[in-house]
Amino acid sequence: MMDFEEIHQTRSKESGTYNREINFSKEKDTESFTLAAFHEEKTFLRKSTPEYIEADVGKVMNGYFLERKIGNGAYSSIYKAFDTKRERKVAVKVSDVSSTSKDSDLAFNEVEIYKKLPPSSNIVAYYDHFVSENKNLYLVMEYAKLDLHTLINRQRMPSDGAVHIPMEIQDKIEIAYQISDAIVFLRRYDVAHRDVKPENIVVCAGSGVRGLMKLCDFGFAVVYDRRSPPTEYIGSPDYMAPEVIRCLKSPKPYGTSCDLWSLGVTIYELFVGEPTFYDENLRETMFNILMYNDSIVYPQGKVPPMQVCRFLKNLILQRPETRVLQPEILKADQ
Ligand SMILES: Nc1ncnc2c1ncn2[C@@H]1O[C@H](COP(=O)(O)OP(=O)(O)O)[C@@H](O)[C@H]1O
Ligand SMILES: [Mg+2]
Repeated sequence: MMDFEEIHQTRSKESGTYNREINFSKEKDTESFTLAAFHEEKTFLRKSTPEYIEADVGKVMNGYFLERKIGNGAYSSIYKAFDTKRERKVAVKVSDVSSTSKDSDLAFNEVEIYKKLPPSSNIVAYYDHFVSENKNLYLVMEYAKLDLHTLINRQRMPSDGAVHIPMEIQDKIEIAYQISDAIVFLRRYDVAHRDVKPENIVVCAGSGVRGLMKLCDFGFAVVYDRRSPPTEYIGSPDYMAPEVIRCLKSPKPYGTSCDLWSLGVTIYELFVGEPTFYDENLRETMFNILMYNDSIVYPQGKVPPMQVCRFLKNLILQRPETRVLQPEILKADQ
């Protein structure tokens, strides 16, 4: 088996949406597209230069031995650790929850959501949490070998000497099915994740690409409440549903179907290599999303199998109420 840990360790955020700054004011002025007016030269919700949290590697914290850092989130650092009581590998997400931190709400929100959800095979398992003396929140969870973002990037022959992980079409269909299942599960509990994208999907135990795909990073998640539905512009723009992007201009209630759009864009990326509306310029990406006419365009030579196209056609749709999630389509014969 390949050394997934090594892959994980060397992983970089090369295409992380939150590192891309947008500058609405200088480029392309389209009258029908007025985002520039209300969003001048501003970095997106995600920090452009994350202040990585450094926890004490080599120390035991509440019974967890921190081995090494394996990931940097926009708001946190992820460590590989060993649970000395239960004698198992775990992942620990460390976030700053001191009074000066702007992100502590997100960190506590994630714990709350994990605790509300019953265990499920395609959601990362929550184990424990605690706040250290220096006001870091430690979220202890199931350990994963790598994430889907890395897996997708390793489809191309890497130029940096990193490990190449080719995937068969059948593997991709299985992955698509498993992540769809995670969203089916969340919808049963009226939870909107609001940041579905390859970086927030990890590959847990199993061998090769047939490991279990699990959704993680519930910092932006909400339990949908009809009396006070979400209206915030939140998530990662490449994967954001149009109704969420429109909230940037004027907040309007939206529902859990924003995840269906993001799921569609994520699965498109799994097969095509890039998210559906990708452009180097984030403003163009948002323009592409808002102007999308419900007809998916696949680059030449990269059209996924027919059942995948049928599946995506029902997800990537402007009007949230028309989106339908039918994972069984993926398993149907072509
Ligand atoms: N349970 C886990 N096991 C291993 N790696 C993980 C785990 N959870 C997250 N990661 C890695 O760390 C990265 C950041 O974690 P995430 O929860 O997404 O943080 P943030 O909220 O800061 O984006 C993920 O993109 C993934 O690569
Ligand atoms: Mg994340």
